[in-house]
Amino acid sequence: MSASKRGKWSSSFKFVLAAAGSAIGLGNIWRFPYTAGMNGGAVFLFIYLLAVLFLGLPVMYEELSLGRHTQKNPVGAFETIKPRSGWKLVGFLGVLTGICILSYYAVVAGWTVYYIFLSLTGKFSSGLDANTAKAIFESMGSNPWINLIFLALFIGITAYVVSRGVEKGIEKWTSVLMPLLFLILVILAVRALTLPGASKGLSFYLKPDFSKINFQVILMALGQAFFSLSLGMGAMITYGSYLRKEENLLKAGAEVVVFDTLIAFLAGIVIFPTVFSFGLSPSAGPSLVFQTLPFTFSKLPFGSLVATLFFFLLAIAALTSTISLVEVAVAYLVDEHRINRKLAAWVVAGVAFLLGVPSALSGSVNLFKKLPAIGKDFLSLMDFIWGNISLALGALLLTLFVAFVWKAENAAMEIRPDPAKPFLGEEAWKFLVKFIIPIVIALILLNALL
Ligand code: TRP
Repeated sequence: MSASKRGKWSSSFKFVLAAAGSAIGLGNIWRFPYTAGMNGGAVFLFIYLLAVLFLGLPVMYEELSLGRHTQKNPVGAFETIKPRSGWKLVGFLGVLTGICILSYYAVVAGWTVYYIFLSLTGKFSSGLDANTAKAIFESMGSNPWINLIFLALFIGITAYVVSRGVEKGIEKWTSVLMPLLFLILVILAVRALTLPGASKGLSFYLKPDFSKINFQVILMALGQAFFSLSLGMGAMITYGSYLRKEENLLKAGAEVVVFDTLIAFLAGIVIFPTVFSFGLSPSAGPSLVFQTLPFTFSKLPFGSLVATLFFFLLAIAALTSTISLVEVAVAYLVDEHRINRKLAAWVVAGVAFLLGVPSALSGSVNLFKKLPAIGKDFLSLMDFIWGNISLALGALLLTLFVAFVWKAENAAMEIRPDPAKPFLGEEAWKFLVKFIIPIVIALILLNALL
């Protein structure tokens, strides 16, 4: 497809919705609370917010500007700026990372769909106790068929939407349902905050104990910031490539970051008061949200209805995220190899499904429950490698590329709403991109890998 025939967002508002739809997902509502819960609560939140502001936001502008400038998928974007160089390998790493994240992300997304059915059957009405909530989650986890079927279902729906293209497929979903998710989170937050003993949860979440800072907390907070904002693998390069030249990239990028962070923050406000009010453990790990939220629902009028609606909206939020994970690989196949969009979407989905099988069996097959010598389950290992390390590595290489190959000055020109005037914070942005971000990520990565 020639550059002029590529799909385009019909307005900047639609772009913000789609990019926010990519960013907002299981990362905010499932991954953020459990990672925070395992890493000291408030101290994690504090470092996470710093990482969003000083690393996430600037990297968001790197990706969007590179994408819009080149109008290409990540591989094509690097190739356009620095032809026939090794840099396009960074684009390939992004394509690979997207498929690998999709493979386990869709397993968890499948759980949310399963929970819609559980909610419909009234499982989360009043009188729920901790053992029941735990048993419900565990019986799902240990059932290989439920996991495989819902994984296939979720990946299939994703492929169907992506195969229909940017405007018809992606935009339609995001405009109504994202604001609705926000609304329901606010309702849940109000309920959680008025539970008996909620204040203990709040102080765990908001009152940092700085003695708990350690290297692990910093690594996880950094990884979470990239994961939640969909950064480090070219999703925002790809979405930026569908952005028209006349749109205000500066404003759109900031809006995406603010919405995403707000939703994650709100999820914590719902989860932690509930956790402490019902005497659950904040460090339960990946099952945290699934074992905690049912209690918030059980304390609401029309709890089953609210639960059904909530898991439906969460599934949609996950869908707008899986769409962006598939879209990177599809944009690459369509742009660079002229493969038809429909075929590309189904091929990528098929590969992700096969890769997802061991993650789907993480709760049922002993080998994948606890990998020999690693001691983690397969899904958690995939999340650590691709969702933490690979995104940080991708963001580091992208930053070096933007700062020194494309040059921060050129990128800044693309970010400026008015080419004649530097944007607010332009000098700070260049300084972060050239010095602070590469050094900080490199140090954290070296520490993690050595
Ligand atoms: N950001 C999404 C979430 O929080 C997940 C996601 C979608 C993602 N696309 C991505 C993460 C690209 C990393 C890179 O749920």
